[in-house]
Amino acid sequence: MDKILIHGGQPLSGSIKISGSKNSALPILAATLLTREPCVIHRVPDLSDTNYMLQILMHLGAEVERASGTVTIKAEKVNSVAPYEVVRKMRASVCVLGPLLGRCKEATVSLPGGCVIGDRPIDLHLKGFESLGAAVRVENGNVKVFAPKLTGAIANMCGKFGPTVLGTDNVMMAAVLAKGVTVIEGAAAEPEVCDLANFLNKMGASIEGAGSRRIIIEGVKELHGAEHDIIPDRIETGTFMVAGAICGKGVTLNRVQPEHVSSVATALSESGFNIESTSSSITVSPNGAVLRPLELTTEPYPGFPTDMQAQMCALLSTTEGKSVITESVFPQRYMHVAELKRMGAHMQIEGASAIIQGVERLLGAPVMASDLRASAALVLAGLKADGVTEVRRVYHIDRGYEHLDEKLRELGAHIERVKE
Ligand code: UD1
Repeated sequence: MDKILIHGGQPLSGSIKISGSKNSALPILAATLLTREPCVIHRVPDLSDTNYMLQILMHLGAEVERASGTVTIKAEKVNSVAPYEVVRKMRASVCVLGPLLGRCKEATVSLPGGCVIGDRPIDLHLKGFESLGAAVRVENGNVKVFAPKLTGAIANMCGKFGPTVLGTDNVMMAAVLAKGVTVIEGAAAEPEVCDLANFLNKMGASIEGAGSRRIIIEGVKELHGAEHDIIPDRIETGTFMVAGAICGKGVTLNRVQPEHVSSVATALSESGFNIESTSSSITVSPNGAVLRPLELTTEPYPGFPTDMQAQMCALLSTTEGKSVITESVFPQRYMHVAELKRMGAHMQIEGASAIIQGVERLLGAPVMASDLRASAALVLAGLKADGVTEVRRVYHIDRGYEHLDEKLRELGAHIERVKE
């Protein structure tokens, strides 16, 4: 197993390119199951999660070719059963349910494992399928959905903690081949949902309203092959924006969509950083001002993303004064806090909030990554800390950041990956 060693305190500067979005790539790869014809997807990030998804597609019968960032998938024939061995490593494997139901009118997918960020139910996905006329059974650790025919209906994707992203994707992918019109109310409006809808429309689907809380899908008889470029990863962008803020002298991120990270940019400029954007780049630099603590609440898009909460905790841990971050999407998502405290951070959890009292400095320490974004927070803290930080269980990082250590090295960080 690899670990990452960081010699903190090096100033970062220069520029890097942001990769394609993991959270767009996963459902878009799954959506290729909806047609017999080949689909060509560009800018698929090379991550363990995208590789798991390709393995699942191959298990389901698809032919997959990968040449650097471009993946060609041809699912001429598919079987509709994804067993535990192939789905257990990744929670997002649940997003093959929708396309399998759409195409085969039945699917059996083992309930996935994946990120340890609290209880992550899929009740809203299943209710959505039921609205379209599917019968749903959960037995022996498997979800079985089947429907002799799918019929357009109203499905509500908003639960206690807001709209579900993969639930919206799943119901949209099942509904494109349903008979009649489906209206998704309380839909997730994340850019990744729009990216999926754009891809499905290129395949011949008829979807309107993606990016709003109401998506209207007119079912079509069949879909055809299509070619698509995945959007830039807004969470990777945000993570590098925080890297630029935490110890940067001027860090530029290229191949980004600045409007997708405007909540992160607003938070960083409120704290006292300079943010400059062009249509496809963002530069984060210090402006010499005393940094200010923040009060932030994570929210569904366009609010501040839950996937940036851990990284923001790392940044605010050394910002003088009291910051408060509240999680409204995953209230238990604070595994990084105990590890940041081991590096000298002063923070405590009260309900769904992290109360952070900024300290002057962090000290390097051996720390354990517990989930994808928590690991990113530990790396960011390590960049700032005095001495050496050793981040273990790096496989969490490899799930969702393409070449994180190489990109940070390009910016001047002293970071290396070694075998444990
Ligand atoms: C996606 C993202 C993840 C991000 C999350 C929220 C992918 C692959 N992952 O995850 O990085 O952190 O959106 O932006 O795109 N919920 C229910 N019932 C359900 C489904 C969800 O109660 O059936 C709850 C969840 O427990 C959570 C909230 O709804 O509290 C949002 O979760 P959801 O949007 O579904 O997250 P994912 O789509 O799994």
